[in-house]
Parts: sequence; structure tokens; C-alpha cells
Amino acid sequence: MRSDRCGELTAQDVGRRVRLAGWVHRLRDLGGITFVDLRDASGIVQVLFRDLDQAHQLSREDVVQVEGTVARREAPNPELPTGEVEVEAEGLRVLAQAAPLPFAVDDDVSGTGEETRLKYRFIDLRRPRMQRNLALRHRLCMSVRSFLDRQGFVEVETPVLTRSTPEGARDFLVPCRLVPGTFYALPQSPQLFKQILIASGVERYFQIVRCFRDEDLRADRQPEFTQLDLEMGFLDTPEPLFALLEELMAHVFREAAKIELPTPFPRLTYAEAMASYGSDKPDLRFGMKLVDVSDLFADAGFRVFARAIADGGRVCALCVPGGGDFSRGELNRVEEEAVALGAPGLSWLKRAEEITSPLAKFVGEGVLQGVVERTGAQEGDLVLLSAGPPAALNPAVGELRRRLAHERGLVDTGAWAPAWITDFPLFKAGEGGRLDSEHHPFTAPHEEDLPLLEEDPLRARAKCYDLVLNGVELASGSIRIHRRDVQQQILSLLGIDQEEAERRFGFFLRALEYGAPPHGGIAFGLDRWVMMLAGERTLREVIAFPKTAGGSCPLTGAPAPVDEAQLTELGLTVEGGASTNPDP
Ligand code: AMO
Repeated sequence: MRSDRCGELTAQDVGRRVRLAGWVHRLRDLGGITFVDLRDASGIVQVLFRDLDQAHQLSREDVVQVEGTVARREAPNPELPTGEVEVEAEGLRVLAQAAPLPFAVDDDVSGTGEETRLKYRFIDLRRPRMQRNLALRHRLCMSVRSFLDRQGFVEVETPVLTRSTPEGARDFLVPCRLVPGTFYALPQSPQLFKQILIASGVERYFQIVRCFRDEDLRADRQPEFTQLDLEMGFLDTPEPLFALLEELMAHVFREAAKIELPTPFPRLTYAEAMASYGSDKPDLRFGMKLVDVSDLFADAGFRVFARAIADGGRVCALCVPGGGDFSRGELNRVEEEAVALGAPGLSWLKRAEEITSPLAKFVGEGVLQGVVERTGAQEGDLVLLSAGPPAALNPAVGELRRRLAHERGLVDTGAWAPAWITDFPLFKAGEGGRLDSEHHPFTAPHEEDLPLLEEDPLRARAKCYDLVLNGVELASGSIRIHRRDVQQQILSLLGIDQEEAERRFGFFLRALEYGAPPHGGIAFGLDRWVMMLAGERTLREVIAFPKTAGGSCPLTGAPAPVDEAQLTELGLTVEGGASTNPDP
């Protein structure tokens, strides 16, 4: 249908006769002459129609075939790779007409609602930016596959119709027609299957795999999303995995996005991350560490802080570079924000020629001087101070750190700051005094913390790690439990007795009984990875056919009622709501 691709014509082609096909991207009808920007997947070229009646009938997004000769343009367009040339058309064939468009195929979609973009996704995806995102995603997957292939990993597919998998979200269920009243669950991840594959002799497994979680959606969460899931046998510490994954990350960044990622990645334990950044996914593109100044205030005469310390809390200082220009009003606003985030209160000091602070009334100058030294505050800086129990204080000041850094332009938005966060707690406190897994129930405890399992389980640490990139949790994994007795003990601490364990995970526990090597692995949020490389703010920009924040697909209208006959076949009745399809 064509001799050349639109985006590839250059001055070297001048004089050549070509046949092109593509979409009418833009059109300017000047009476006798019509200019058309013709677009295909490779790009855009200008086509010139002289006295061709048919050209006046064209509309945007019509699909056409053009015969013509490449000529040098009178007014070159430096913005366009093909900007030196145009095609003087001699023939035109309309291959498909386009109806009036709901929005233009243009990278500025600010005037178009997301519902509309998703309903007409086939138009939306034609936009160069979306084409670029799809291509980036493809390149990322290709480079992941080629790297892992070279490292001896085998991609194995695991079932989509399966049993509930314990990743902590609600399951999507699929009723089974053959046995009414029974359901498949869609996998929240292939966790149990990948562990079974290790027990099955696949020593290095990976899969680019769809996962399903019925949870509240956010910009970085979709109900169906893609993981790069991987698992390695004969692994009892994460070190070999970290080394391999750092190489993988560096390779993918280089291949897919031409970015050099420095290795090795910094590491922080969970405890360090919480104490220094108030977050288990710290953004390390900027400093502003939370600094402990409890010792300076323990006997300093400021009762609010002294009491917080006596009650087991800490005093935490956050230096805001250049924050000396905050007005009283702004400081009040920041305090309100801190309190709303869960900090008990907020005080401050400013370092100008002298130190000023509302605390000067209560504590000696030496204490404030001590804070300045400890935080490294320079002239013109502001130091925020807050005291309270670490569990509430750290996340509040950590979030304040993040917001202030963005507000004040202190984040190097061109930087890439990956980090490993290790040694998460094994459990977190659940409802009604129950223990919940911090990661998932198959995560191995640290050997030296095994005694804590009985004495003080909330203090036990897990062999669990996250890979954080620019403040986003990109991947999460762990060394697994490979012994049935330890697995049973953890399940019973989680309130899952033997009978329930057998019922829910019996198939998996059996696999641990027949020779399962020590193993561990990780899963990356692939959509998140592409989103970050593409510089996008939501996953919807990097998934071809995503769901809205309300979980629906405006293109297909899913989820949708079904026919009464389908429900009957499944032995289901639906109470209330739109149960059946009124218009089958
Ligand atoms: P986890 O539940 O932490 O671990 O998920 C791994 C990574 O998947 C991404 N992710 C999501 N991305 C988009 N939408 C969602 N709803 C969503 N939920 C999670 C995140 C996250 O870091 N089986 C374990 C992994 C393991 O232990 O090997 C698991 O699924 O980037």
C-alpha cells in the first residue's frame, strides 16, 4: 500500500515518486491549495494538493493513500523531522472516512475529560505521546526479557483462574458453571505458584504477569495491573538477588530510556528509613533528613517536649533549606498541616544572623545552637521541631518533608534515586489485637528473631525488602519460608489454624513437604516502572486499556449486567442493583 513511511522522508528523497498512507492529521484549505499533515506510526509529513477537488472534502483522521513526488519545502519547519520536505500529491484515495472527532489527536488533552479519552481510546492512543508510552513499555518488556533470558531465567505462565492468594486485597471472583456455588479467584499475584515452581525444579523463574486486586484505586493503583514477577531457588539471603536486580535495573534504564543508573543502590533498614525519613519509601532525590534532637531537649526546660520524651517519644528536627523566609502566617499553615498529618504540634527556629524561635522563652541558647549544629542549618534556613510518639510523629514529619521539598522546588526532578529498604517487621498489628503479615505469610523471619515469635512477635524482623525509586514503591519481595513447620507456626500466629491452612493453602504446604529448596524473589510493579520512565503521573497513561478511578472501562462499558440466562446457568441470583441485561 505504500512505498515509504511518512516520518522517514528527508531532503535526500527530493525528486522521488512515493506512495504514502496514513491519517489526515491536520489540514489547511487555502482555496486552490490544500496542505495536509499526513501521519502514520513513524511520524508526520506535509502533503500539498493543488487543484485536487477531492482534497477539499477531507476531514481530520480520514485514512488516505497519496501518490506524489517529494519536493523541498519553501518554508522548512525545523520542529518536524521531515520539515525540509513535502510531498506534491498527484493522486488521492480515501481509504476510510472519519466521523466528527470528540477531540483532536493532539498532545494537549487538557480540555478533554478522562471518561471521553477512555471511551474513544482508539483515538486517544493515536496521540504521539501515547504511542511513545506504548513503545516505551514494549522496549522495557523486551529488555527485561532479554536480560533475564541471558541470566538463565525461564518465563513460565501461571493460572488466571485459581484460588484466593493472600496479598491482602479483596479478590475478584469468577463463578464456576460446572460446580454451582463454587468460584475461582483471580490471582492477586502468582506468589504460591512461583514458590511451587521452585519446588518443581525451575531454579530461576520469571513472568510478566497480570494481577488482579479489588482495592480502592489511586493514581498508582489499577485493579488489574502487571508485575514483573521473579523467584530464585537456592537463596537464603537477598544479596545475590540484589546484585542481579541492580544489573537488571541499570540494563533496562539504559536500553529502554538511555538513562545511566548508578549502582550499587543505597540501602536502608526499615527502622532507619522510618527514623530518618518517616517513610518506608523515602524519596532520596533530596536530603532533609529527620534529625533526632531528643537528648538536647530532655532536661532543657520546655515541658511539652520533655514530657513527650519521658513518655517514650522523640523530638524530631527537620531543616528546610532557605525556609527562613516563611512568614508567621505560613508557619501557622505548616503547623496546621503537621497536626492534620498526625504530629502533636510543631515549633520552629530560624537561623539568620541570630537564632530566632518561640522556644527561646523556654530553653537556653545552647539548646537552640545545638539544634542548628545537629541539623547543619545554614543562614537563611528554617528548622521545624516536633515531639511525640515515633509511630505518629515520624510519618507526619516525613510527609511534611516531602510536601515542603516539592513546594519549595528542592526536588531534582531529573534525578533517579533508587534504594533498597530491608528488614521490615514480620507482622503489623491488625484489628482486635490480631497479627497481620507486613508483607505476606510466606515471608521468612530473621533467624536471630525466631525467639521473638513467641515473646514479642511485633518486634520480629522479616527477610523482606522493597525497591524504592524516587519515593515510589517499585518492587517488593522476600526470602521465603521453605519449611512446613515454620510456615505452620507463622500461619498459626496469624490466627490461621491447621484446618484453615489446609483448606486454603494445603496444595502449597504439601509442596513444602517434598523437598523445597531455600528460595526468594520479588515482584516489580511494571506499570509503575513504565509510568516513572515515561514521566507520567498516572498508570492510565501507560496502560493501553485501563480502568477509571471508579473501576470501570468506558470503552467497553465493563463491568456490565449479564443476561438472566447466564445467571441461571451459574446458579446465581442478584439482589438489588442492575442484575440483568435489559437489552441483550
Ligand atoms: P506486592 O503486593 O508488594 O508483592 O506487589 C509488588 C509490586 O506490585 C505493584 N503493585 C501495583 N501496581 C499497580 N496497581 C496495583 N493495584 C498494585 N499493587 C501492587 C507495586 C508493588 O511493589 N507476591 C508479592 C511479591 C513477592 O513477594 O515476590 C507481591 O505481589 O509496585
